[in-house]
Amino acid sequence: MRCPRRRPLRNALLSLIASSIPPVYSQGNVTDYAPATNVQCPDISTAPLIRVFTPQNQSIHPQEAEYITRRTQDVLPGAWADWLGTGVGGHGYNIADFQGNFPKVGMAIPGGGLRSAMYGAGCISGLDARDEAAKNAGTGGLLQVASYLAGLSGGSWITGSLMFNNWPKISDMVLGNGNDMDGWLLELSLATPDGINIFSNKNQEYFGSLLWSVRAKADTGIDTSITDPWARMISFHFLNQTNRKNFFTNDSAHGAGQLWSKIPQIPAYQQHQTPFPIVVADSRPVGSNLTTALSFDPIVYEISPMEIASYDPNLSAGMNLTYAGTHLSNGRSINGSACVTGFDQAGFVMGTSASLFNIMYSIQQLFDFARNKLSSFSNGDGAGLLYILSRQLREVRTRADDVANWPSPFNGLRNETFEDSDKNWLELIDGSSNKENIPYSPLFVRARALDVIVTIEGTSSDSNNWPNGSAVIQSQERLARLLLQSHQQFPPIPPTAEAFIEAGVNARPTFFGCDPKQSPPEFPLVIYLPNSPPINGDDPVSNTNTFKLAYTRKHQELFLSQVHTNTISGFTPNANTPDPNYGICLQCAAIDRARLKVSPPISRSAICDQCFQQYCYDPLNPPSKLELPGRKYVFVDPDPVGISKIEGFLSKNKFALIGAFAGLVVFLALSIAGLLFWKKRQTQQRYKRVQSMHADDVPLFRSRYSDHPRGESYELPNHRGPLGR
Ligand SMILES: *[C@@H]1O[C@H](CO)[C@@H](O)[C@H](O)[C@H]1NC(C)=O
Ligand SMILES: *[C@@H]1O[C@H](CO)[C@@H](O)[C@H](O)[C@H]1NC(C)=O
Ligand SMILES: *[C@@H]1O[C@H](CO)[C@@H](O)[C@H](O)[C@H]1NC(C)=O
Ligand SMILES: *[C@@H]1O[C@H](CO)[C@@H](O)[C@H](O)[C@H]1NC(C)=O
Ligand SMILES: *[C@@H]1O[C@H](CO)[C@@H](O)[C@H](O)[C@H]1NC(C)=O
Ligand SMILES: *[C@@H]1O[C@H](CO)[C@@H](O)[C@H](O)[C@H]1NC(C)=O
Ligand SMILES: *[C@@H]1O[C@H](CO)[C@@H](O)[C@H](O)[C@H]1NC(C)=O
Ligand SMILES: *[C@@H]1O[C@H](CO)[C@@H](O)[C@H](O)[C@H]1NC(C)=O
Ligand SMILES: *[C@@H]1O[C@H](CO)[C@@H](O)[C@H](O)[C@H]1NC(C)=O
Ligand SMILES: *[C@@H]1O[C@H](CO)[C@@H](O)[C@H](O)[C@H]1NC(C)=O
Repeated sequence: MRCPRRRPLRNALLSLIASSIPPVYSQGNVTDYAPATNVQCPDISTAPLIRVFTPQNQSIHPQEAEYITRRTQDVLPGAWADWLGTGVGGHGYNIADFQGNFPKVGMAIPGGGLRSAMYGAGCISGLDARDEAAKNAGTGGLLQVASYLAGLSGGSWITGSLMFNNWPKISDMVLGNGNDMDGWLLELSLATPDGINIFSNKNQEYFGSLLWSVRAKADTGIDTSITDPWARMISFHFLNQTNRKNFFTNDSAHGAGQLWSKIPQIPAYQQHQTPFPIVVADSRPVGSNLTTALSFDPIVYEISPMEIASYDPNLSAGMNLTYAGTHLSNGRSINGSACVTGFDQAGFVMGTSASLFNIMYSIQQLFDFARNKLSSFSNGDGAGLLYILSRQLREVRTRADDVANWPSPFNGLRNETFEDSDKNWLELIDGSSNKENIPYSPLFVRARALDVIVTIEGTSSDSNNWPNGSAVIQSQERLARLLLQSHQQFPPIPPTAEAFIEAGVNARPTFFGCDPKQSPPEFPLVIYLPNSPPINGDDPVSNTNTFKLAYTRKHQELFLSQVHTNTISGFTPNANTPDPNYGICLQCAAIDRARLKVSPPISRSAICDQCFQQYCYDPLNPPSKLELPGRKYVFVDPDPVGISKIEGFLSKNKFALIGAFAGLVVFLALSIAGLLFWKKRQTQQRYKRVQSMHADDVPLFRSRYSDHPRGESYELPNHRGPLGR
């Protein structure tokens, strides 16, 4: 009896043991950043790589439509019920009366570097049903009913991070959970994680690792740029393969090989648990070499898990993202049947949306400004540092290597209206380059038919880094001037930044477009949630500079907590206390358009009416900033003692902006130099056209970056403050 059982038992035990051993899966290799260049293209006669449409006959990608349909049918009814209930609720409606018609909601997270990513995180935690305080306040649940999430620049980092970490809770994602999530590690600066001495061993190993990835890509023959090392830096923090232990090693791929087009394989996406993610990038007319802000004309692109596309009428086309990186002409690979895959690295997509380097050349003016203005830097090494930086910048600039280079898939298309139709490359740059800092363009696309657009507004506009409405005004203008046919229009807002400030609507939650005149409404309802001072009058810590590239742990925690508190609190006019009805008011705004989807329309409930009087912007009767007393607007560093090496130096010198840039700029300039050297060497080897190469093509960088002399002027003199921890 026992003998026959032994074997199965042993096998069962063995398999039990085996299944309890963590799977040994490969963490990949940093060289997985390289695309594959010789992949068989799909048969374009049956599976075209390009999708074209017109503003009049617009369509979204069928796989996007399918995702939205499935989420709308399978997930959103439960999410609405969980948030608003099913019968009569505190909002005064009987949800059953809506007959299953719910508004379609999108969210936008704008640019502004780590501040805007952190503001996005804090705000989302206050709208997340999984967050207990938010749930209790009645605000937690808005996140769960969203169909779209659009990110731009710093906003694209949190968007990507949420996706590639499988849609976790915010605190786990940003601060780590001591288990499978390691947090954003923002204590380690993006540019110089081992402190400001770029020649420290650890920094050198880090740079080496970044450049190894970039060279792997360059080795495939695809042009790289300053955006590539930047993309790799972003990956270390916002993707899921980096922790404190492996940060300065090559033991992990650090996100190399994770592709935006593979988002559909992420478990939370497969279960339709996430909104559909999109990031925005602008384009610089190819060959223009622009280093200033753009006009409204150049095409605005979006990158979804399906496509790189633009709904701007002058292009109206999208390309299968899996094959991004392939030069197409009239929809066909210019390299025969060879296509490229693996170009859409998640870090590169986020880096493209945040590729502000062409604009950064105005940093040179900053440096000049610094030299003249700030006496502490007018002498000795400080000036030397600035001098070398500006020299390097000049070198980089002449290479026009300052944009994200995307092989153009749109060559030959729409040659009457599409400005880059005759070009083989797209020069993509930071999504805020035309001053539309908020990723509204995908969310206003008519075919997407959104009813409600939540703006998680972390833009820095005024001298204290608070928003002043100017980014919204820019989008309203571009929508009205260029996108009338293709996009919905923006609801009424204060006409100028001054009017925004005067009305106070940039400093407390505001609903725009509450009272459309037409049915269906002529614009969506916009829920505007601006970064603003703590309502209780505390010193603010969330209005940090865009170019601050590291945050102490203590600052991160306080930042999230302040924003979370404001997000669940609303405001009470003429007071410093939370609004006990705010959760209901937010529910009123989210559900309002559903009233118009049933016939006859349902009238607004009494409590929602009351809410709207407080939170809606009425252009004929604007509110006043005087209703917001006792706010403190000036940033106060919550952690001036426990700061990292780089910040110690920076805050000592009151040089946050320029200093934070300094590390980044030095590194990027050196990367470019290294790349140029390396590319040149490759070219020499391959084509043996040694004659035509001049060693002084790159006068400042004749040697390899790692051989670069350790100039004393890079090292901070001791008197500038303690560099040790
Ligand atoms: C990564 O790939 C490179 C090139 O293929 C190889 O030399 C290196 O050993 C790999 N590293 C690891 C950690 O697998
Ligand atoms: C073009 O195709 C050839 C093979 O047909 C391949 O070796 C090469 O890498 C391709 N180049 C690009 C840029 O895709
Ligand atoms: C609109 O697009 C659809 C497919 O997306 C097509 O079947 C239809 O013919 C188009 N209509 C016009 C007027 O172009
Ligand atoms: C990281 O994300 C990738 C892509 O979403 C996933 O395949 C992988 O399992 C994740 N790794 C960890 C350690 O969570
Ligand atoms: C990672 O690899 C690159 C390329 O070989 C090297 O420069 C760098 O020092 C390595 N980093 C570490 C920590 O080994
Ligand atoms: C842009 O830069 C490239 C390379 O330096 C140069 O050939 C081109 O003439 C420049 N274009 C303009 C419009 O200045
Ligand atoms: C778009 O096309 C129109 C012609 O239809 C043209 O007038 C306009 O300048 C184009 N816009 C851009 C930004 O190229
Ligand atoms: C991209 O092309 C491949 C091959 O035709 C196809 O399987 C895939 O569904 C396409 N993806 C999208 C998003 O269109
Ligand atoms: C656009 O392309 C068509 C067809 O290829 C051609 O006939 C026409 O001349 C082109 N127009 C311009 C402005 O280049
Ligand atoms: C609003 O912000 C914009 C963009 O930063 C700035 O140019 C403008 O001066 C600001 N206006 C006011 C009144 O603060």
